[in-house]
Amino acid sequence: MRALVTGASAGIGRAFAKSLAAQGYSVTVVARGTEALEMLLAELGDGHDYLAADLGTQEGLRAVAERLRGGGYTLLVNNAGTAAHGDFTEVALEASIATLEVNCRAVVVLAHAFLGAAAPGGVLVNVSSTLGHIPKPGLAVYSATKAFVTALSETLWHEQRARGVRVLALCPGVTATASQTATDVPPWLVQTPEQVVDRARKALSGGSGSVVLTSPFNRALIAVLRLFPRRAALALLAD
Ligand SMILES: NC(=O)c1ccc[n+]([C@@H]2O[C@H](COP(=O)([O-])OP(=O)(O)OC[C@H]3O[C@@H](n4cnc5c(N)ncnc54)[C@H](OP(=O)(O)O)[C@@H]3O)[C@@H](O)[C@H]2O)c1
Repeated sequence: MRALVTGASAGIGRAFAKSLAAQGYSVTVVARGTEALEMLLAELGDGHDYLAADLGTQEGLRAVAERLRGGGYTLLVNNAGTAAHGDFTEVALEASIATLEVNCRAVVVLAHAFLGAAAPGGVLVNVSSTLGHIPKPGLAVYSATKAFVTALSETLWHEQRARGVRVLALCPGVTATASQTATDVPPWLVQTPEQVVDRARKALSGGSGSVVLTSPFNRALIAVLRLFPRRAALALLAD
């Protein structure tokens, strides 16, 4: 069994890599920085490898897609993601475009490479976000990219079912990783990367549908916010 995890050197991706290795997968870990990847490999032990690639570039994407096409992978975790915080017009356009490239373009390119070669039993996990359900002012482009990832995953779930390939949109809420900077979130709402990954493992071993919100509190929160007029939900989520 072979798995490839993007954004694997930190946070949720790192927890995915460790969990998959413990489940017996041979894992290819992908990120830009080689030092963190080498440290992770030392922790994982023998039988794993890394590919240093910037998924925001054509060159990096091509290298990972080629590996997926020829590598005999049974599981792909499209986890790498980025965000630029601030009101839309205050964020540099380049930063918003970079968010689109990593969060959307890379997900499409790598999903296409993986699914094109996938056999029955294959699994694609696309890491989305609760903000794909209800967008957050101050994270306009990020929220929109995650709505894209969730919608894409839902249709892929349907299309791939007949082939016996599972597709999951995994939607964490606030998760304690280095890129998580929100200070106004009550601690009971914050999950660890390991809890997020454990929820994915349970979803894949059971008969969950195409979209999984990783925390029961977030599921309840989204359900309640959906009862509000959209503009009230936006005001509540605004900083
Ligand atoms: N943390 C949260 O609260 C939260 C909530 C909902 C959803 N999510 C989603 O969960 C996923 C993981 O988030 P996280 O918080 O665990 O992230 P993180 O701790 O910031 O780690 C990001 C990982 O992605 C890699 N990466 C970033 N840009 C990359 C690029 N251009 N090319 C290749 N690799 C890249 C980083 O390594 P290098 O810098 O070395 O490349 C690192 O391994 C993301 O899709 C995020 O949107 C997170």
